[in-house]
Amino acid sequence: MPELSVVIVASDSEQRTVLQVLVDGTSVAHAVHTCASYPVASTDPVVRRIQSANADVVLVDIPADNPSLALRSIELLHQELPDSALFVIGSMTQPQVIVNAMRAGAREFVERPSTTTDLLEAFVRLTTAQRKGRREESRGKMFTIVNAKGGSGSTTVAVNLALALQASHGNTALVDVAQLGHCALHLNLKPLFTMADAIRNLHRLDSSLLESFMTRHGGGMQLLAGPTTPVTAEPSTAEYAKLFDLLVSHFRYVVVDASTRLDATTRLVSNLAQVVLMVAHTDVASLWSAARVQQYLSESGNREKVQLVLNRFRKIPGFSESDAEAAAGVKLLWKIPNQYFAVSTAIDRGVPLLQQNHTEIARSFTGLAARLTENDLDVKRKAWSLFKTV
Ligand SMILES: Nc1ncnc2c1ncn2[C@@H]1O[C@H](COP(=O)(O)OP(=O)(O)OP(=O)(O)O)[C@@H](O)[C@H]1O
Ligand SMILES: [Mg+2]
Repeated sequence: MPELSVVIVASDSEQRTVLQVLVDGTSVAHAVHTCASYPVASTDPVVRRIQSANADVVLVDIPADNPSLALRSIELLHQELPDSALFVIGSMTQPQVIVNAMRAGAREFVERPSTTTDLLEAFVRLTTAQRKGRREESRGKMFTIVNAKGGSGSTTVAVNLALALQASHGNTALVDVAQLGHCALHLNLKPLFTMADAIRNLHRLDSSLLESFMTRHGGGMQLLAGPTTPVTAEPSTAEYAKLFDLLVSHFRYVVVDASTRLDATTRLVSNLAQVVLMVAHTDVASLWSAARVQQYLSESGNREKVQLVLNRFRKIPGFSESDAEAAAGVKLLWKIPNQYFAVSTAIDRGVPLLQQNHTEIARSFTGLAARLTENDLDVKRKAWSLFKTV
């Protein structure tokens, strides 16, 4: 993620200092200029100073006791700085101020008192949206797999989806962010390095060093393994954000197994992903949990991208697929058949299902990979040229 430059506009000097520390603390942005007064006219010298900073983001603090001046300046800055994104900091107890700020052109409203994580999430949303806008086809696509409930099959889906993507398109990475990484076991790999090594070397990490921390599976898929013992010192969200930025610039497809963790890391890898696959079973407890997890992930703006994968699918008389979608509040993307013997033997032997060609369950994962990539431009192009040569 390229570092974002930020201008801070806040009349309160303490708040200016706090915001500067928070912005710099995200590690993905830095404050290049601060202003103590709100500009009121385009001829105001403050406007020129802000323009000359050429910032990606202008962060405007709206004081609770006198919001009108700050709101007017947001409208003005929106006109005068069409290439900068306006973020505002304000109080959630003043809904009319929030509405007015958004109408005046603010892109993000961040609650006061703010945290580094709040700002980081807003910065990540901005760069993700800009990337989409620029149609940066050279960057990889990321799929994050989360469980509705422990043991629903997130790791099985992540491992086999990554293998299917590797088989069809190549250049695929599997990243294990679960608190205890099981992906290596499913693949019968013995990694020399894990995620922790990549994070520790983040300051000098480039594509080749990153690959040296990854473990190659037979077919070419690369695994960035998770911890083999529970870790006490978790990487920060900013560290993860940097690592994933490098991963998507190096790999065409990045599959992330978050399994059952529900925290800032899962939120971040969901924010960064194009699609979040929520793995659930077709029972009341699982679908109830799916709705809760969906709600949690939606708080940081992921509602549209979360899609349901019903694992161990079985038809239940009187309970339709649309009933499952309604209970989970998530659109159904895929169903994976219930084949306990095949799946548990595959895990125990470390021979993934995808390597056992021509089984119904292997075909299901190949189908899921095809579905997730059907709109990718180069995949479409390849399908078309194949068609032409037939
Ligand atoms: N499609 C399936 N059919 C039958 N059994 C399955 C299927 N998928 C997974 N299982 C079984 O469910 C168990 C859990 O699978 P897996 O390790 O993938 O789950 P997980 O959700 O990642 O677990 P955790 O919450 O511990 O991370 C496995 O032991 C496997 O045997
Ligand atoms: Mg797991």
